[in-house]
Amino acid sequence: MSTYQPEDSRKVTTHRLLEMKGRGEKIAMLTAYDYTMAKLVDSAGMDVILVGDSASNVMAGNTTTLPITLDQMIYHGKSVVKAVQRALVVVDLPFGSYQGNPMLALDSAIKVMKITHADAIKVEGGCEIQESVERILSAGIPVMGHLGLTPQSINKFGSYNVRAREEEEANKLVRDAHLLEELGCFAIVLEKIPATLAERVAKELTIPVIGIGAGGAVDGQVLVLHDMVGLNEGFRPRFLRLYAELGEVMRRAFTQYISDVKAHDFPNLDEQY
Ligand code: KIV
Repeated sequence: MSTYQPEDSRKVTTHRLLEMKGRGEKIAMLTAYDYTMAKLVDSAGMDVILVGDSASNVMAGNTTTLPITLDQMIYHGKSVVKAVQRALVVVDLPFGSYQGNPMLALDSAIKVMKITHADAIKVEGGCEIQESVERILSAGIPVMGHLGLTPQSINKFGSYNVRAREEEEANKLVRDAHLLEELGCFAIVLEKIPATLAERVAKELTIPVIGIGAGGAVDGQVLVLHDMVGLNEGFRPRFLRLYAELGEVMRRAFTQYISDVKAHDFPNLDEQY
C-alpha cells in the first residue's frame, strides 16, 4: 500500500485550501472525534479534520445527528484540537445551535472557537441560514457550508437518499452554493448529490467544494472515519470505499484476549511485576 507524505508540513489554513484548488491539488478531509484518532489522522497528512456531528451516530449511538448538543461537540472539538499539528480543524455546529437565530448562531460559533481552539465551523443549509452565516462571519470566524443531503434536516427529507436529482432542487442547490460563496464561506461540502451537479458547482465556484457521495470532479473528498476503516460495520453505501476492516481486526483481538484470560494464559510471568 502506498503511503502519503505531505510536501508542506506547515499548518493548513483556509487560504492554503484555496491555493490547492487553484493548482488542482485535491483536498483530503476525514472526520475525527477524539484525541487518539485525531493524532493518527493528522500524522498521516490529512488536510482537513472535521469534528462532525456524525459523532452523534458513531460515538453516541444515536440514529440521527439531531440529539448531539453544543457542549458535546465542544468536548469532541477540544479533544481533537489537542492532537492536531497540521490539519485545519473544522467543528460542526449542531442542530438547534444556529438555525433561525443569528445571535444564537454567533454565540454558538464563538463558544466553539473560544473553548476548542478549532480553526473553523461548519453549518448545514443555504438561503435559510443566510443571516446566521453572515453573523458568524462578521465575527471573523471561518465558515464551511454544507449542501445536498444535510442530515440535520432528515425529518424534512424523510430519507438518506440522493438529493437534488430533480431540476428544481438542483437549481436551488446551485443558487445556495453561489450565495454561500458570496457571503464569504471558505469551502462547501456537497453530500450525496449527482456527480454531474457537483462537478458543475465545483467549476462555477472559486472556493473549494468537498464531496461525499458527490463524485470525483470536485476539489476534495470527505468521509466519516468509522465508515472508511470498517468500524461502522454494516454501513456500506455505494459511495464508501473501505480502506480497512478494523472492526474485524479488533473483534479478533478482543476474543483472543478473552480466551487468554479464561485459559490463565494472560498475564504470563513476563507480564507481571
Ligand atoms: O458530520 C459529518 O460527519 C459530516 C460529513 C458527513 C461531511 O458532516
